[in-house]
Amino acid sequence: MTTHRTADGRGTDGPAAFPGGAALFRLGPDVAHLNHGSFGAVPLPVSAARRGLIEEADADPDAFFLSVPERLAAARRRIAAHLDADPEGIALVHNATEAANLALDALGLRPEDEVLVTDHGYGTVTDAAARRARVTTVALDPELPDEEAVAEAVLGALTPRTTVAVLDQISSPTARSVAGPGLVAALRERGVRTVVDGAHAPGMLARPLAGEPDLWFGNLHKWAYAPAGSAVLAVAAPYRAGVPAPVPSWEHAQGFPRAVEYRATADYTGLLAAPEGLDLLASLGAPAVRRHNAELVAYGTELLSALPGITPLPYGPELAMRSLRLPRRLARTQAEAVALREEIAARLGCRVLVWAWPTGGGIRLSAQIYNRAEEYERLAAGLKPLLDGR
Ligand SMILES: Cc1ncc(COP(=O)(O)O)c(C=O)c1O
Repeated sequence: MTTHRTADGRGTDGPAAFPGGAALFRLGPDVAHLNHGSFGAVPLPVSAARRGLIEEADADPDAFFLSVPERLAAARRRIAAHLDADPEGIALVHNATEAANLALDALGLRPEDEVLVTDHGYGTVTDAAARRARVTTVALDPELPDEEAVAEAVLGALTPRTTVAVLDQISSPTARSVAGPGLVAALRERGVRTVVDGAHAPGMLARPLAGEPDLWFGNLHKWAYAPAGSAVLAVAAPYRAGVPAPVPSWEHAQGFPRAVEYRATADYTGLLAAPEGLDLLASLGAPAVRRHNAELVAYGTELLSALPGITPLPYGPELAMRSLRLPRRLARTQAEAVALREEIAARLGCRVLVWAWPTGGGIRLSAQIYNRAEEYERLAAGLKPLLDGR
């Protein structure tokens, strides 16, 4: 491995910085933001585009708001092209949680239906299922060796009453690939409809809709450089008419997707600026961004794995997020995980996700083009004394 010069003039054996990457963001210099996966971060050109839209609305509200439905449709077409999706088969929504609720409503669940989820699922998404149906939760050992083992565990937990599976494309705490195309196909063969939580997929995966689940949703505000409040719901043709409008309004009679997207006078500037994020990703070279992020998170994972008691979970090599297990006595509850996360932020100046698990939780690292190898080195150097003191 070659040694690169760091911002402070030292050397690092880690991957080189993405040229111009950090300068595209407004992130403060004192904190290593190693948690892109939670809320994303908005690049400056995308913020500027959004500000332009706000100023346009302020200057001539009538012209702006009357143009919103058509502009949403244009943004939808651009986003569909990026996802390689049917533009009439996706709707722009505000976040993955909203999309999950709409997706589950679209299925027309009956009282006898059972929905399968896993214990790696995101809280708000699993809760949306549990509010609508009887839920079976599959416990997946975070250390299951690969996607095949995960698929076997999921298929083994189906009951004769399972009609729907809600599964993560990339799980939040553990950064595991659960709903790969193979598992989606196997579920389809068994007559089980699939709702895939692809919150992390747009921007991170080359083909977010691979496997063509019945319903899929993804956030644009995580890895696709969009402003917060930008997400997309993709719906197979038979379910489109069943997607409810969150707020029935002037576009209601138009049906899916317009009825879902338009909710009267509201702030649409984030969604309208979302294509700017996709354009930025394309101009930087999406494969180069993905390669950089995957290599950098692999480097950070390698550094943390050298610390006593910390072990990496099996991972998807192309992902920009990875999770590691902490020594087993740590982060067994959400309160313990939050306390550790805040201590890491306060003492080491590093933002990471600390996830709780009953048998001991872990740390999730992300990498984005604004990150540099020395930020992970700082985390690794500081983490050992911090954990030894616990
Ligand atoms: C896998 C997964 N699903 C759903 C969500 C919810 O996203 P949002 O807050 O945009 O609704 C998250 C957020 O981090 C997530 O990681």
